[in-house]
Amino acid sequence: MVIRSAKFITSLAELKDFPGRGMPEIAIVGKSNVGKSSLINKVANNGKLARTSAEPGKTRLINLYELNRQLMLVDLPGYGFAKVSRDEKQRWAGMIEGYLSGSENIRLALQLVDMRHKPSDDDVDMINYLRHYNMPVLVVCTKADKLSRNERNKAIPIISRTLAVQPWDIIPFSSVDGTGRDALLARLEALITPPQENE
Ligand code: GTP
Ligand code: MG
Repeated sequence: MVIRSAKFITSLAELKDFPGRGMPEIAIVGKSNVGKSSLINKVANNGKLARTSAEPGKTRLINLYELNRQLMLVDLPGYGFAKVSRDEKQRWAGMIEGYLSGSENIRLALQLVDMRHKPSDDDVDMINYLRHYNMPVLVVCTKADKLSRNERNKAIPIISRTLAVQPWDIIPFSSVDGTGRDALLARLEALITPPQENE
């Protein structure tokens, strides 16, 4: 898939404010600081589209980005960020769960995990939550640029086992050097191209 346009649509706190476009949605979930907003920028080839920060807890609302007028990328606040108050955490969890459980257009969830670490209990809870809603999930391992080829090869089976996902549903990704961008775009394209019938 070639990205011809990428546009910020809006920020919202509740699903009821979601602009009714009916496009296929891709939900992007993961711990604070894992690289969700950076992934959107890399996919869009626009470093300024989504706000990113070295400090966790940057994205505090649900942010919508439209790709090629065909797909909606949904950037969600991160979970597992220790430094916010309990009230704030609950508010974020409510936002994330309200969206994930309520939207009827989510066609794929991207579960992001930092490739350098074993997925956390929060990550396991999140992927199980997505499965509970029968959502197709792709695991995107971020910050792959920080690992050697050998370290990457070791990380995949650990992530695959911990999250109980098949290795072909795991994509090593780097928003710094572009690793995995084509592989991810190919999976996104499949969402908008109906499968060809065998003749
Ligand atoms: P919240 O909005 O706080 O939940 O974080 P986020 O998941 O959106 O993370 P964000 O994209 O803001 O990135 C967090 C930090 O990680 C920033 O300093 C990014 O530059 C850095 N980062 C993100 N992706 C990569 C990557 O693939 N490689 C490297 N080396 N750094 C990355
Ligand atoms: Mg963010």
